[in-house]
Amino acid sequence: MCSYSFSVSKVYGYSDGRIRRFKDDFMFGASTAAYQVEGAWDLDGKGESIWDRFLHQNPEIIPDGEGGDEACDSYHNYKRDVEMLRELGLDYYRFSISWPRILPQGFANNINKKGLEYYDNLIDELLKYDIKPMVTMFHFDLPQTLQDLGGWANPNSVQWFEEYAKVIFKQYAHKVPYWITVNQPNFICVDGYGGKENAPGIGSSGIGDYMCIKNVMLAHAKAYRLYEKEYKKQFNADVGISLALSWVDPLNNITENVEAADIYRDFTIAMYVNPIWSKEGDFPRTVKRRVLERSTAQGFPESRFPVLSPEEIQLLKGSADFMGVNHYTTFLVKPSEKQYPVPSFEDDVNVTLTYRPEWKQAQSKWLRSAPYGIYKLCLYLNKEYDYPLMIITEHGWSTKKVLKDRSRVRNMREFFKALLLGIEDGARVKGYTSWSLMDNVEWSAGTSERFGLYDVDFESSKKTRTARLSALVYKRIIEQRIVEPHWIPNSLNISITKRSNAQRNDIEPYFVFIINYLFKNILLS
Ligand code: BGC
Repeated sequence: MCSYSFSVSKVYGYSDGRIRRFKDDFMFGASTAAYQVEGAWDLDGKGESIWDRFLHQNPEIIPDGEGGDEACDSYHNYKRDVEMLRELGLDYYRFSISWPRILPQGFANNINKKGLEYYDNLIDELLKYDIKPMVTMFHFDLPQTLQDLGGWANPNSVQWFEEYAKVIFKQYAHKVPYWITVNQPNFICVDGYGGKENAPGIGSSGIGDYMCIKNVMLAHAKAYRLYEKEYKKQFNADVGISLALSWVDPLNNITENVEAADIYRDFTIAMYVNPIWSKEGDFPRTVKRRVLERSTAQGFPESRFPVLSPEEIQLLKGSADFMGVNHYTTFLVKPSEKQYPVPSFEDDVNVTLTYRPEWKQAQSKWLRSAPYGIYKLCLYLNKEYDYPLMIITEHGWSTKKVLKDRSRVRNMREFFKALLLGIEDGARVKGYTSWSLMDNVEWSAGTSERFGLYDVDFESSKKTRTARLSALVYKRIIEQRIVEPHWIPNSLNISITKRSNAQRNDIEPYFVFIINYLFKNILLS
């Protein structure tokens, strides 16, 4: 890969004074994930997920002791969730289906009717108000029974996922216009199989994570092909995958730093984008070569990086109607000065991540505000992958429990400005999804990091939701289609203002009734 050094003065300065506008058909949404909001972890026949098991067994790692047992209790509060989407005036809601709520033991021999019913109710409630469902089929919560068989490190997981996909496509295909097969293969694999701090916490860095990546990517492709073959003609939904794509720049233009940035991009961006969007398909050559060289030097008889067969390469190539981009932050890199364990993913990549001191930090340690990153990411993807169609499927900011979340508002505005520049410069971005609709269980961080447009009172039995400042600002941006730098609402009251088609249809019959009444009783009398 070549190195990337775009001029960002345009983004830093926004100096030409032009107000850029989101087109009328640009879609706005918000996102959640099953484990993070649903609660009801063992209710109505739901099976145990790896996150249930992991946080039950390791409660001490959650800073405030709140795992996902109750979360926001969206299992019972889904109507309130839809009401919030209506308050914001959103076009779509991205939520995920919990695999073990549908298939408690992971396999399709036992389908949980109550689980199917829950998502049917949620989807119907959305459609009633003309809000499009964007369904993530897998957002980290694998059935524990499948983990006991090796989970995503087992090549059979590809087939397990396909069976699960069959069940949910059959049930919901006629009412879902957007599907996301898998959320963030890198987090599933590099964090979950490489590391120990996220479920399932295997700790097999440089081996288990790579096995997982191959299987998750193939599982995605199988589900895509299944939809393409069985449902595309009839229902024509868009099916994509959500990738965690941070931007990365070299610390400065010293050759070693530029090379380190290229390597980091290959291992974190190209790793997942290449197999689907590049002309040649497959994992990046640079990654395969680097892991092979290191494996050989470490005495492995073969590369630790798995091989894709020619059929698998074909299966993956072109297997997405859009690229789901989850973008939160930017890193600066230089070659690592420390020795990582051998073998490990970190040792294979061998860089140190840093940031500019002026980049403000969120409540989450890893999250700094450097919004120009989305602009550079857009240019990089356009150049390397020929202008892929994208939906920003996640972007957000964490705070403490505050209602006037000014730092989120700032981050959101800056992000939108950079995104609008990216679009102006050719990026094909169809929509934006805020992470998150409401505060939720931030995995191992519990409820200590709050990402919500709505605050959630986890202490209250109703898990009361209250709009934050950012909710009102987001609503205003959606209405006005521009980013007003200083607009602030008079109060934090929020109400439903958007007339959905469904509501209009509700009103129509009354009009017809009144006209008929007037005609019959007054005009004809
Ligand atoms: C994940 C979410 C998570 C968010 C904030 C995303 O990468 O998909 O589940 O809550 O980041 O950390």
